[in-house]
Parts: sequence; C-alpha cells; structure tokens
Amino acid sequence: ITKKLLAASVAMAAVLGMTNAASAQVVVKYAHVVAPNTPKGQGAEFFKKRAEELLGDKVQVEIYPNSQLFDDDKVLAAILRGDVQFGAPSLAKFGKWTKKLQIYDLPFLFKDMDAVSCFQNGDSGQELLNSMNGKGLTGVGYWHNGLKQLSANKPLRMPTDAAGLKFRIQSSDVIAAQFEAVNAVPQKMAFAETYSALQTGVVDGQENTWSNIYSKKFFEVQDYITESNHGLLDYMVVTSTKWWEGLDPEIRDGLAQAMKESTDYANGLAADLISEQRQAVIDSGETEILQLSGDEFKAWQGAMKPVWDQFSGEIGQNLIDAAAACNS
Ligand code: LMR
Repeated sequence: ITKKLLAASVAMAAVLGMTNAASAQVVVKYAHVVAPNTPKGQGAEFFKKRAEELLGDKVQVEIYPNSQLFDDDKVLAAILRGDVQFGAPSLAKFGKWTKKLQIYDLPFLFKDMDAVSCFQNGDSGQELLNSMNGKGLTGVGYWHNGLKQLSANKPLRMPTDAAGLKFRIQSSDVIAAQFEAVNAVPQKMAFAETYSALQTGVVDGQENTWSNIYSKKFFEVQDYITESNHGLLDYMVVTSTKWWEGLDPEIRDGLAQAMKESTDYANGLAADLISEQRQAVIDSGETEILQLSGDEFKAWQGAMKPVWDQFSGEIGQNLIDAAAACNS
C-alpha cells in the first residue's frame, strides 16, 4: 500500500510539475487588422519568430491578422483588460487616448519616409511613445507603412474634383477635417468594412497606402487612384504598461529584443514591399493611376494645409516645428 501511495504521489507530483511548467509559459497575443503580406503583418510574424527563438518554451506568441480578434477601436481597451498583449493601430486611431498623436495625420506634413523616420527617431517622436502612459499604455516602437494615396470612382486631379464625394476614413478628426477642407464628406469606418463599402457604393472613395490598397483589393473596386502622397499611415506598437512592467525581467528583455529586431525588420522591408505592391496594382490594369502635375499637387496642398491651424493648439506648435524641421 505504501509503495502504491508513493508511486501515486510521484505520478501526481509529475502532473503538477507539468501543469506548473505549462502555466509558467507566457502567452503573448498580438492583434492587428491588416493582411499578413504587409509591412505590419510581416513584422508581427518576425516578432513571433524571434521572441520564440530567444525565449524558447517560456513564451508562446500568437498573431491575429485581418481584424480576426479586434478592430482598432476595440484593441486598446482589450490590451488594458489583458485580452491581448500587443496591438499596432495606425497613428490615426489614438484620438480618444491622446491628442498629441494627431500630428501624424496632418496633411503634407512629411515630404517622404526619411523625414518620418527622422521625426520618429528624434526626441519628440520618442517622447510621444510615452504620451499614453497615464492611461496605462506604453508605445514600444513605430512601424512604417507609408504615404497615403487617394482613390475614387472618378478621377481626382484637383481638390474641387473631390467636392461632394463620400470618403471612407480612419477614425481621426484631423483626417475628417482634411476631407471637409476639400468639401468632401468623410465617413469614419472600420478597415474591415472598407472593401464592401467601396464595392456597394456606400462611399465613393478612400485614402490608404499602396500596401493596404493592394492587399485588401481596394483597387478592384476603385476606378482611379491618384498618387498624391498627401499624408502618412504609420503605426505605434503598444502594450499595457502594467503587464509589461510586471513581466519576469528575463521575459521582458527577450520580448524587448524581439520587438527591437522586428521594428528594424518591418521598417527595413516596408519601402520595397510597398513599391512591389504599387507595381502589382498598376500591372493589374484594374484601375487607372493618375500622377499629379506640380501645380495640381500644390493645389491639394493649399486646400488641405489650413487643417494644421485647426489642430495646432491640441497638438502643440513645438511638435509641428520639430516635424517640419525633418523635411529640410
Ligand atoms: C486603416 O484603417 O485604413 C488602417 O489603419 C489599417 C492599417 O492598420 O493599416
């Protein structure tokens, strides 16, 4: 009997030990809304790969693309609840949490992606990663997508061409003001609903990056794309401050290392992936690409730039000046 009891308790200990080992594994969920074949989708997969290489069985990273788990309007609250550990909404989606990040939506703020990197890597950009700490969110990095293009079911060459048209926009007051500045009608809508809204004519147009236009097939349901490069669509990868600070230091260091490497990876591949996807849209022959003349470009700039004054109070002129300095 004693032997049997001993054997049973050894077996029990083994089971308990296994359970403990299993429960010690940290499950890290990363939810986003775009397709895997985008800069953010590729960066997220690289993060999983590196985190699991660096930390072995101690972590299990699960990536949920394509709005499978949360839309961007829900993901930040889900991070705070602990339902998911990382998200990377576009910088246009943080209006409820901080007004400072509205800077990134100002039309014609950055002349190219080098200027964007200059600002994000500088003091002001780095401070903005902490702009939501008071709300329990920490930014752990910026990931690029790229500059936005305008598309519609009619050719947009001059700002007056947009008058009266309905555009799907991300949930940003700055972007709403940008379309109102050209007498268009902005409609805030989840990314996941955009394709069908374009297809059914609920909206006439939208603005997005080449990568999103390609991977979500918006080009198949838009007759014209104007290569306007009029604004930025980039991301902040965010996590819960409390969860992050409460992690075992070894795990936090490993995840921080994986995040740093995946940030470099995603930002390194963005430009090439986007130019491939731009070319694929052109080669599809499904839509006509319009290039703006110098005067046409200036007309859009002139029409949209007054939006800066509407938001400079909330954003802070010092931030706008720091961004503008990166263009020179
Ligand atoms: C959008 O809603 O258009 C984008 O923010 C989607 C994304 O994550 O790129």
